[in-house]
Order: sequence, then structure tokens, then C-alpha cells
Amino acid sequence: MKTKAAVLHGPNQEWQIEEVELGDPVAGEVQVRLAASGLCHSDHHLRTGQSPAPFPVVGGHEGAGVVVKVGEGVTRFAEGDHVVTAFIPACGVCEPCSRGAQNICDEGAGLLTGLSISDKTHRITQGDTGLTPMCLLGTFSPYITVNEASLVKIEDDIPLQAAALLGCGVATGWGSASEIGGTRPGDTVVVVGIGGVGINSVQGAKAAGARHVIAIDPVAFKRDMAEKLGATHTFESMEAATPVVNELTWGKMAHTVVLTVGEMKGEYIAPAAAMTAKGGQVIVVGMGDYAAMDVKLNLFELTLLQKRIQGAIFGGAGPRTQIPKLCNEYRAGQLNLADLVTQTYRLEDINRAYDDMLDGNNIRGMVVFDEADW
Ligand SMILES: NC(=O)c1ccc[n+]([C@@H]2O[C@H](COP(=O)([O-])OP(=O)(O)OC[C@H]3O[C@@H](n4cnc5c(N)ncnc54)[C@H](O)[C@@H]3O)[C@@H](O)[C@H]2O)c1
Ligand SMILES: [Zn+2]
Ligand SMILES: [Zn+2]
Repeated sequence: MKTKAAVLHGPNQEWQIEEVELGDPVAGEVQVRLAASGLCHSDHHLRTGQSPAPFPVVGGHEGAGVVVKVGEGVTRFAEGDHVVTAFIPACGVCEPCSRGAQNICDEGAGLLTGLSISDKTHRITQGDTGLTPMCLLGTFSPYITVNEASLVKIEDDIPLQAAALLGCGVATGWGSASEIGGTRPGDTVVVVGIGGVGINSVQGAKAAGARHVIAIDPVAFKRDMAEKLGATHTFESMEAATPVVNELTWGKMAHTVVLTVGEMKGEYIAPAAAMTAKGGQVIVVGMGDYAAMDVKLNLFELTLLQKRIQGAIFGGAGPRTQIPKLCNEYRAGQLNLADLVTQTYRLEDINRAYDDMLDGNNIRGMVVFDEADW
């Protein structure tokens, strides 16, 4: 079918709204009509060239919608089902999936190749050119055709626009504090960078029973939102927060420091580790340049105070366990989804939407699709 998509043709270019050809689902695939797509910072890393993916690229990896077609052999999804996209596929049978670590599924190796899991060909084309859908999804388009490993079915009572956020920002942020971050009642948790991901680390830490939830962001509006959604203290920088974390914890410091800054840099590790308690951990969620190697870190303290520096993808939990769980947290009133989307946009306004993200105007911006797009 012909549809439209936001396409990047090279680094540091604008998103272009163009006509593309979207293939029908082959064996193991599903076509979805999307209701919405969140605007995550990770798509911006494609634009800056910091995440390497073969151009042209169709952005977007945080969507929800309704199944419109299923390919041969698909038994888990049927037309009309409501689904959330999982930015990391979960095949269910590889070694990591088999031991419950679906967020590091072996199919993740192909995440930025553009080649579909089912038959290793391109599902989105322009003439003879194959396009790379971000995370094998490409949700900056009203329709996607993706492998069933990249979808999670949800019940119909969750509004699809809210559900879209579960596909990346909410699951990633929440899990980074409460799952891989291991927050327990009474803990002190610091979250650095309050965007669409970090705000959900604040929510996850609060729900896990943290006593102090300290949110750090240079933008005042972000700090206000963090307070609204569960932060007990806010600061504009790690340097400003450190002496207060020391005071609040009687020198013990934070059990978990979650780094959810928009662009990760090696220089953030040392101040984050300095805020971390003995036996505590720094959870690195933010992404930077794929070739960046340099980190400053006090190795003496790392060893003797038994600290951990822990990378985290999808909050350290699998999409098939985490997305239904987050639906229940939403139903129970523990997870606020309504206030996360601070502005909606049409796909055609996507460059303005990303300018707004970079200017600090949004917690999460969201592209909403309707009859005019379908
Ligand atoms: N690991 C994963 O699974 C995963 C998933 C999604 C996104 N990400 C990454 O997480 C990061 C955050 O994504 P997002 O969509 O929330 O981005 P965002 O742009 O919405 O938010 C980033 C926030 O960080 C703040 N910030 C920037 N520098 C800071 C600093 N030095 N100290 C404190 N705050 C600072 C900004 O003001 C902004 O509010 C990005 O790098 C993204 O690529 C990782
Ligand atoms: Zn994302
Ligand atoms: Zn797998």
C-alpha cells in the first residue's frame, strides 16, 4: 500500500514527509494502523548520526494502534486487536528470551539494519530503495508492517494514545528505577534528565516506595513536572544536588542514580557515581555517540565502595511482561499517563516537534494520527 512517513535522507537533515510503499505482512508479520507515535530522543540520535542506521531512515519506535492485517502463520494477533509496539523485539525462543531477558533478545542485533526479521528484506521502499524503519518499526507513519515479535497485545480499555508511551518512554523510565534499578521501600533514588524517559523513572521510583526521589534537570518546567509526578526534591544540576543528597541520607548517598539525560556523555559518570551509595548503582539509560569511549571514574571508590555502573535497555525488563504490568499500574492510578504528553502534533509538524523537545518545551511530544492520515 502507499502511505506516508517521516524520512531522513542523511545526517543533520530535516525529517521529510514523503510517500512510501509499505509491504503487506509476509509470514510472521502484522500490519497495524497507528493511533499515535511518541517522539523519543532516540530518533533524534538518528538525525545527528550518533546512532548508526543506513539512510534513508523512517523514524519512530513508540506507537500503538489496531491490527488491520495478519500474515501467514500469525496466531497471536487478529484483525481488530489493540497493540503497542516494542522497540526491542521479543522472539521468545532465543537464549536471552528463554531465560526471561526479553529486553536483550537476539533479534535486537538487527534493530538498525532495516531488514525485517521474517525474510531479511525491506518492508518499506521508495522505488528500488529500501528504507530503514527505526527499531524495525518506523512509527512516524500511519501504518507499519512489523514482525509479531515487535508487538504486544493490550486490552481495549487503555486509550491508544496513552498506550503508545508504553512502547518506549514509560517502560524504559519506570523499569530503570524499579526493575533493573531495584528500588526498594525507603530508598533514595536520583533521576538525572527529566524527559519522556526520566519522568517515568520518577514515577517508577515513587511507586516502588522510594523515600527520597531527587529529580535533576536544568529546565524549570521539567522540575515542576517532576514534583507533580512524585519527586520529593529537584535541582538544576548534579553538582547542586550532591550536597543535599549527602545531607538527606546522612552521608549514605543514593541507592540508585538513573542517568536519563538526552545525550549521554562519559563526563556524567563520575558525578553520578559520587552521588551513589556504597553497594549502589548508576543506571545508564541515556544514549550518546555510538563511537564514544571515554569515561572518567574514580576506580578506587568503584572497587572499595562496591559500586555498579549498569547499562539498561527497556528498563531491564521484557516488553511482554512489562507492558501488561504497566497497563495495570495505570488502571490502579499508580502510573500517570495523561500528563506525560504535553503537546500533540500532526506528522507534518515533526521538525517543529523535535525543536520543541530540544528547547525543553515538552515532557513528551506525540504525533497523533486520524482519518486524514489513514
Ligand atoms: N536505554 C534505553 O532503553 C533507552 C530508551 C529510550 C530512550 N533512551 C535514551 O534516553 C535518553 C532520554 O530520552 P528522552 O526521550 O527522555 O529525552 P528528552 O530530550 O525528552 O529528555 C532529556 C532531558 O535531559 C535533560 N538534560 C540534558 N542534559 C542534562 C544534564 N547534564 N543534567 C540534567 N539533565 C539534563 C534535558 O533538559 C531533558 O529534559 C536519550 O538519550 C534517549 O536516546 C534510552
Ligand atoms: Zn525511545
Ligand atoms: Zn529472543
